Amino acid sequence: MERESFSSRLGFILISAGCAIGLGNVWRFPYITGLYGGASFVLIYLCFLLLLGLPIMVAEFAVGRASVRSAAKSFDVLEPKGSKWHLYKYGAIAGNVILMMFYTTVSGWMLYYFYKMAVGDFVGLDADGVTNIFVSLLSDPVTMAGNMIAIVLSCFGICYLGVKAGVERITKSMMACLLVLMLVLAANSIMLPNSGEGLKYYLYPDFSKVIEHGISEVIFAAMGQAFFTLSLGIGALAIFGSYIGKEQRLTGEAMWIMTLDTFVAITSGLIIFPACFSFGINPGSGPNLLFITLPNVFNEMAGGRFWGALFFLFMLFAAMSTVIAVFENITSCITDLTGWDRKKTIRLNIVLISLLSLPCVLGFNLWSDFQPLGKGSCVLDLEDFFVSNNLLPLGSLVYLAFCTSRYGWGWDNFIKEADTGKGVAFPKWIRFYATYILPLVVLVIFFNGYYALFSK
Ligand code: PHE
Repeated sequence: MERESFSSRLGFILISAGCAIGLGNVWRFPYITGLYGGASFVLIYLCFLLLLGLPIMVAEFAVGRASVRSAAKSFDVLEPKGSKWHLYKYGAIAGNVILMMFYTTVSGWMLYYFYKMAVGDFVGLDADGVTNIFVSLLSDPVTMAGNMIAIVLSCFGICYLGVKAGVERITKSMMACLLVLMLVLAANSIMLPNSGEGLKYYLYPDFSKVIEHGISEVIFAAMGQAFFTLSLGIGALAIFGSYIGKEQRLTGEAMWIMTLDTFVAITSGLIIFPACFSFGINPGSGPNLLFITLPNVFNEMAGGRFWGALFFLFMLFAAMSTVIAVFENITSCITDLTGWDRKKTIRLNIVLISLLSLPCVLGFNLWSDFQPLGKGSCVLDLEDFFVSNNLLPLGSLVYLAFCTSRYGWGWDNFIKEADTGKGVAFPKWIRFYATYILPLVVLVIFFNGYYALFSK
């Protein structure tokens, strides 16, 4: 069967950016920044994006482009005979599937909130009323599953149309709308009364806040966020490397994607923090920041129903562009692995991913007694922990070691692939850093993840 590829460079960049830009930027980034005290956290996070992000992202793209396969076959094609790198395919596939097992549910919340805002169900509610909407959503498995299935169906539906006609065409338009929507919302937020306070909190670094939280905790949170937001470690980006030609060097492409991802994260903060301060809402309220607090902001704002609907539409686009990208990867992995036809694979996956996403839905209600990571935790936390704290950092190590070690694909092959084409060359002087120091940093994140969790 003929393998499709993207029709343009812009398509590739926007789709990879669509994969990177997601709930990690618009939901996780603002609440974590809020928890860890604003601007100083943002600065540390930016350092990690550069230190970790660039080499690992280029490594993933290079493996994808050189092998012209998904993670299910890329190591088989490139590894030296007799080595075992290909076993990581199971880690990569599991990572993508487990990520979707909770991501589809949270994306479903966005869909639900968009609908509720658009039909005016928040109008006139006080803060308790707004909280109640979220609480009753969580306690209602049918509504939650319905929204989750709507996300699964529509995103796989887009993959069903094909790489060019579906994934590239739709994600490209969604990303373009998203970037415009963000600017409009940020301008609106900055013009709110008292927004200066929020901007100061967000943009003026105050390192005493970092010390208050404990430097190491803040640093680790910032590193974790960098992995998550750039989609590193489970071949989610590598697949798009396999859909492009050799015209451009990979470092420049990775820089574009990182810039877009960072732009969206930073602009999300510009939307959320001025609004929090303008309406006296605590920016450190955690994962609920968006669902419990923001509808109050829109309720008090002139034209709030319109702005609120637009806000959740933007959240939905960000989430869906990631889901489509990861679904494309899962589909491609399974077709590479089994040789099945793409459409059959998608039909099967619709059922499979919907079923696998049910535990996350049920974890908030019928199965709420199951608290795997301590009091108050739920299935979502367990799945997120599996992916964010295990598969992303360890998988990134696998890609990195594969590209730098002579027992893997090796530095020379990697550099040759990364530097094929026009554009920015991969900086060779970071070889020592990428081979020895970076893996050490990644391992520290990994062990710290465990330590933080089990020493509580
Ligand atoms: N980067 C995505 C986000 O920010 C999440 C993601 C992680 C996607 C890992 C794919 C792989 O929402």
